[in-house]
Amino acid sequence: MSEDTAELEARLEEQDAFEPPAEFVEQANVSDDAIYEEFEEEWPECWERAADLLDWEEEYDEVLDASDPPFYEWFTGGSLNASANCLDRHLDERGDEAAIEWVGEPSDEENVTYTYEELHREVNEFAAALRDLGVGEDDVVTMYMPMIPELPIAMLACARIGAPHSVVFAGFSADALATRMESADSEYLVTANGYYRRGDALDHFEKTREGLGGVDHEVSDVVVVDRLGDDGHGYDLEDEEHYYAALVADHEGAAVEPVSRDAEDMLFLMYTSGTTGKPKGVKHTTGGYLSWVSWTSQAVLDVKPEDTYWCSADIGWITGHSYIVYGPLALGTTSVMYEGTPDHPERDRLWDIVDEYDVTQLYTAPTAIRAFMKWGSQYPEQHDLSSLRLLGTVGEPINPRAWKWYYKHIGDESCPIVDTWWQTETGGMMVTTLPGVSTMKPGSAGPPLPGVDARVVDTTGEEVDAGRAGYLTVNKPWPGMLRTLYKNDERFIDEYWAEYSDTDSDDMDDWVYFPEDGAKIDEDGYVTVLGRVDDVINVSGHRLGTMEIESSIVGVEGVAEAAVVGGSHDVKGEAVYAYVITEDGYDEDEEMRDRIVQGVEDAIGPIARPEQVIFTPELPKTRSGKIMRRLLEDIANEEELGNTSTLRNPDVVEDIQQKVGGD
Ligand code: WTA
Repeated sequence: MSEDTAELEARLEEQDAFEPPAEFVEQANVSDDAIYEEFEEEWPECWERAADLLDWEEEYDEVLDASDPPFYEWFTGGSLNASANCLDRHLDERGDEAAIEWVGEPSDEENVTYTYEELHREVNEFAAALRDLGVGEDDVVTMYMPMIPELPIAMLACARIGAPHSVVFAGFSADALATRMESADSEYLVTANGYYRRGDALDHFEKTREGLGGVDHEVSDVVVVDRLGDDGHGYDLEDEEHYYAALVADHEGAAVEPVSRDAEDMLFLMYTSGTTGKPKGVKHTTGGYLSWVSWTSQAVLDVKPEDTYWCSADIGWITGHSYIVYGPLALGTTSVMYEGTPDHPERDRLWDIVDEYDVTQLYTAPTAIRAFMKWGSQYPEQHDLSSLRLLGTVGEPINPRAWKWYYKHIGDESCPIVDTWWQTETGGMMVTTLPGVSTMKPGSAGPPLPGVDARVVDTTGEEVDAGRAGYLTVNKPWPGMLRTLYKNDERFIDEYWAEYSDTDSDDMDDWVYFPEDGAKIDEDGYVTVLGRVDDVINVSGHRLGTMEIESSIVGVEGVAEAAVVGGSHDVKGEAVYAYVITEDGYDEDEEMRDRIVQGVEDAIGPIARPEQVIFTPELPKTRSGKIMRRLLEDIANEEELGNTSTLRNPDVVEDIQQKVGGD
């Protein structure tokens, strides 16, 4: 490290507040801090500004209908179509501009540009094909697809005909696909024969068929994108299976009138993990969700039509839905989409893409930034990153060291960073600085967005003092919020509202949304999110339920009991630690360990694979028989343990500790 760099590092190390760069502020979509006060005074009408970013077929009558909390309705009486908002309305002015710049993983493959006109054409053709297959309004279409352009095309085609989509992350297992299709009563599936990962052509179709085999109801049609061509595994399709390209060719030039959807009609379902084993089907609507992602893309990501904006998430998660597909396309910008991993063929792949496309905003996850840091600054240094204007992070807390590395080595100290806190359920960003307005404090996401009433409270719902830890709550509804859990209003109330609300009340002020995150707040109202307080862990920004993992382990032959916790991991954030008790007669050996890992991969997917499997004769339990998870977490993190004398079986602790340390 040269002396200059060392000096710079030292200066950054000490600095704990950063002002938005003047050059950025000058051109920012939002640069006046009066917005906070205005939104507070004009709430809920302030959200007309979000709705105004869209084209409505029928104007709405009321911004918010709060007559039956927590079943809020936004922009009631209004109607619109999401695909028309993301495509048709841009054709006149931006038809020849790129909507999607797609980069495949093989670096010798040609990238593909979809202009708005081309994207519009293919969305129409595929919408016509779906209709011909029998997909009607409100039929849920499942997508089990990698990062290929046909995924956003399929989503927008569904939106066009008013069929909600349910995208299942391609890395999830066959079982996970089956559970989600079944829960959504989904009779249609769009999938692909495979994708490229670190140079290999991975088969995806066998897993798809296996998943379909596990669905109890009849699946009428399966559409298969041939991603692998000659690298494919040569399947013969069955009657109900169709190649995507053939369907689109059969509908060449078709025009499908966008279906008029009520603001409150479902746009999509997204399954996510919670405390209990069963994934939750989060329901998002057309008007509120689309307004929310458009407004936050504009205000926080500073998206302008002429930008080349890149969110490196996977569309299989909410971040990709909101900030690769709907937000950016609704604003008519260019959205970059990359199929593969950041280290293929080399560890400079992302910087190579930023350089080649002159990317203006990069939105990624702390786990990726930690990996880049570990690999070293020589990789970004090989490229010209001066096109970047703004950086963002999402998915988990970012520690100040990683923040500063990102700020310096990727942003060259001239890009604001937005650390955005939100969830699948919130639809879009909730707590973050506004890049053209606010001071940034590394490690803290920032204040709640204008018009968002987020607080940090104690167990009774009282706000905690600055500096104290508490729980994050959202005390007023917002347009992008989930409307319910699919076909399960009761669970919706239990999971998100019961903790802090008077559930008998019809008064909105008595209803408080609980995201199940711990947080701190400082004297300036900046929120530092500490992480989940429920049994959800965050592995590389992927949200996983420990109960789901436990039940997959208990399903393995020879396992009597299992407890799963998150242990800290320097790149992944958290990693899965599985404590397992075997049944009598089964050996605690490598073979057993392999079967457990396989069991988890089969039930959920490789992302949930345990980092360590620790065999133990007993699990530490309280006198009332509850597993002491905190203690297991402390053991995983090799932290000092508190008082263990209240345990029913204190002796077991030392034994487990030795095993973890010794592995
Ligand atoms: C965590 C991803 C700290 C949090 C958009 C939340 C964060 C969960 C941040 C939601 C952040 C997300 N700082 N923690 N900036 N962003 N989280 O549903 O625990 O996959 O509850 O949505 O990620 O994960 P989900």
